[in-house]
Amino acid sequence: MRATFKRTYSRAIINKITDFPMSHIRFKVLAALCIGAALLTACGQKSGDTAASGDTIKIGEFASLTGKEAAFGQSSHKGTVLAIEELNATGGILGKKIDFIFEDNRSTPGESATIAKKLITRDKVVAILGEVASGRSLEAAPIAQSNKIPMISPSSTNPKVTETGDYIFRVCFIDPFQGKLLAEFAKRTLKAQKVAIFSDVAAPYSIGLAQFFRDTFSATGQIVSEQKYTGGDKDFKAQLTVIKNTKPDAIFVPGYYTDAGLIVAQARQLGINVPLFGGDGWEAPELLQIAGKALEGTYYSTHFSAESTEPGATKFVAAYQAKYGEKPDAMAALGYDSAMVLADAIKRAGSTEGPKLREALAATKDFPGATGATTLDARRDATKPAVIITVKDGKFEYVETIAP
Ligand code: PHE
Repeated sequence: MRATFKRTYSRAIINKITDFPMSHIRFKVLAALCIGAALLTACGQKSGDTAASGDTIKIGEFASLTGKEAAFGQSSHKGTVLAIEELNATGGILGKKIDFIFEDNRSTPGESATIAKKLITRDKVVAILGEVASGRSLEAAPIAQSNKIPMISPSSTNPKVTETGDYIFRVCFIDPFQGKLLAEFAKRTLKAQKVAIFSDVAAPYSIGLAQFFRDTFSATGQIVSEQKYTGGDKDFKAQLTVIKNTKPDAIFVPGYYTDAGLIVAQARQLGINVPLFGGDGWEAPELLQIAGKALEGTYYSTHFSAESTEPGATKFVAAYQAKYGEKPDAMAALGYDSAMVLADAIKRAGSTEGPKLREALAATKDFPGATGATTLDARRDATKPAVIITVKDGKFEYVETIAP
């Protein structure tokens, strides 16, 4: 059984999987890991025979480690792994080591609820960390809620995620804030009066962010065109041609990096020279690989910059770079913070029981982390500044920080 098999290796050789290049075919990864894992434990071990489960605290994670948005899951996961390792290196939580159990949803719909069920009923995790994409957090959240197992999304920004119920939390800002700041940015910095919106109908994140942007921007500016695509599409030229004919001053693309990269590239091919901009969904090194030079003069908002001089950020950046040999992005920083906020709540609760842990999480106040201080409000959301990033000379460049 896949889940049982994966659980065995995911726990045993956590360092190895994060080092695996994404180009590997999944079964090859599994096979390679299995050989390594076999030295420590038997692959394919049956469920229910987890040794010493009472001596550890089990924390689950679901992430898009492969597939369309693999960059999201990989980054977030790496940040979370760093946090778990730091916690375990300093004695764990409440005198127990953390047993970290993670699962890959392959960026596909329909997997995350199954994984959440498996983590809760079979692995008996005390809390779940995940996901980056709002759509997949929305799939798992009802399962966590009905089982009274707290779930913390590191970076899902759609308001509906935590509206699922009182066991669902997040450590990032939400899209009403992000949509508003992008609308103000378009006016102030891009000097745009007329904006076209090009959004992904298949992603709750994209639909929501388009709506929140529109709410603010249309009060004083004009939305000249609203076009739609479905995440995974490859040809955006028909919609971009319609957009071009409406002569916008700028184009807002509230989508994920894979699609946004192609959209930017095809817009330039069509001779559209106005700025394109997006939200945190653009954040991934792959964006540069997909769109290359076409990205010059584009912008996006996100949660974190590795250039930050805040003490929590510099400490995190140094530890992340030492472990992975690369700079962390926003997903990594929030993945780290999600685990640290959870650990802090378990300590304060003095317990891993769902209701007690939920209470402690809800009381999170000024907890210092990589992305600044986390305070969870009555809706279990965080309020944090955003940063604007642009692309200059083929590199991401920090532009400004926008306070909430
Ligand atoms: N906020 C996005 C969503 O809700 C996910 C995301 C977060 C993407 C951070 C990139 C960086 O779907």
